Amino acid sequence: MGYMTIDGIEVEFTDESNVLSVIRKADIDIPTLCYHSELSVYGACRLCTVENDRGKTFASCSERPRDGMVIYTNTPRLMKYRKMILELLLSAHCRDCTTCIKSGECHLQELAHRMGVTSIGYENKKTQYPIDMSSPAIVRDPNKCILCGDCVRMCDNVQHVNAIDFAYRGTEALVTPAFDKTIAETDCVNCGQCRAVCPTGAISINTNIEVIWEALADKNVKVIAQIAPAVRVA
Ligand code: FES
Repeated sequence: MGYMTIDGIEVEFTDESNVLSVIRKADIDIPTLCYHSELSVYGACRLCTVENDRGKTFASCSERPRDGMVIYTNTPRLMKYRKMILELLLSAHCRDCTTCIKSGECHLQELAHRMGVTSIGYENKKTQYPIDMSSPAIVRDPNKCILCGDCVRMCDNVQHVNAIDFAYRGTEALVTPAFDKTIAETDCVNCGQCRAVCPTGAISINTNIEVIWEALADKNVKVIAQIAPAVRVA
């Protein structure tokens, strides 16, 4: 147990494992894209970055709270960084937002609105990949992936299916089944948990419900994770 000062307010912490949880406990709004309390901490998006009283910045999701810590969550410098991060993510993102199946519930889109990102000053140099529609349940569009890794940690660490992982580097980096296989060629059990945690339209559900139920019945699937399951099987 200890106390830290967040934006001038003294906040008590007990068993919170990271600074972000203490910030949220104090009801202070801070944006995140790669943090899920049920998944391991990855620290990829840096949107949760805060600043301490010596001007040092760090990702609050991957820092342990310490007694006497003094931090600021919404300084002009942090707002500028967050806007820049969103611009960079959007610059490498396919721009069909208005027709995207996730439009209106895309977390990236929502944050861009909230942070006032109205134009993108960077060129899209990302390699364009085909959309994987091989699975009866999952549609995977690598061009909308922001590499937050939520789906990978869900599939590998929670569901223990290991159907997808990171591959390649730089502008070619993507989340994909190994050896450029399609989803249908992996051990994917069509549980839909990757879609439940994906913040963008990179993973969506095949909307043909009959095809989904057929596939689930075929594999005798049981959903074991409890994070907003997209598909439940009794
Ligand atoms: Fe902390 Fe993404 S939420 S780095």
